[in-house]
Amino acid sequence: MPADAPPLGRKAIASMYSVLFVCLGNICRSPLAEGIFRHEAKAAGLGRGVVADSAGTGAWHIGKPPDPRSIDIARLNGIDIAGLRARQVKADDFSRFELILAMDGSNLTDLERLRPANAKAELRRFLASDVPDPYYGGNDGFASVYRMVRDGSLALIDEIRARGGFAAG
Ligand code: 4NP
Repeated sequence: MPADAPPLGRKAIASMYSVLFVCLGNICRSPLAEGIFRHEAKAAGLGRGVVADSAGTGAWHIGKPPDPRSIDIARLNGIDIAGLRARQVKADDFSRFELILAMDGSNLTDLERLRPANAKAELRRFLASDVPDPYYGGNDGFASVYRMVRDGSLALIDEIRARGGFAAG
C-alpha cells in the first residue's frame, strides 16, 4: 500500500479538489501558498486528492520564478518552490478550479471583476484578514506570510475534509 493511501476505514479519495491561490504578482504570496498547501495536503495523506496552482492578477512577472525571499523561506521549511513560474489569472480558471482564494481584499475585488457570469468556482479571501504584500519589505514580512499561509492551509485542509473529504461533488 502506498504511504499516502487513505487510512483503512476511511472513504477513499473519489476525485480531485482543485484550489487556485491568487495574489498580485504571483511571485511572493501565492506561489508560497501553492507550495505550502500542497506540502501540508501531502503530509496529511491527501496529496493525490488535491490540485493546487497559483496565479497573479497582474502581468508584470509572467514566466518568472518566485521572489528569492519566498524561495528561501519555503526552503527553510523544507518546501521547494523554485521550479514554479508566474502566470496571470485567466477566465477559464473560474471553471477549472473549485475554489479560488485571494490573498487580500484588492486581489478579491480584481477577481470579482474578472469572474465570468457563469463561473462555477467559489471565490473568497484566503484568510479573514489580508495576507499583507511583502514585496517592498524585509525578510520578516516573508516569515510572517509563511506562518499565516501555513495556518490558513491547515485550516483549509480541515474545512475541505469536513465538507466530505477531498471527494469533490
Ligand atoms: P505578490 O507580491 O503579489 O505577493 O506576488 C508582489 C510582487 C510584485 C509586485 C507587487 C506585489 N510588483 O509590484 O511588481
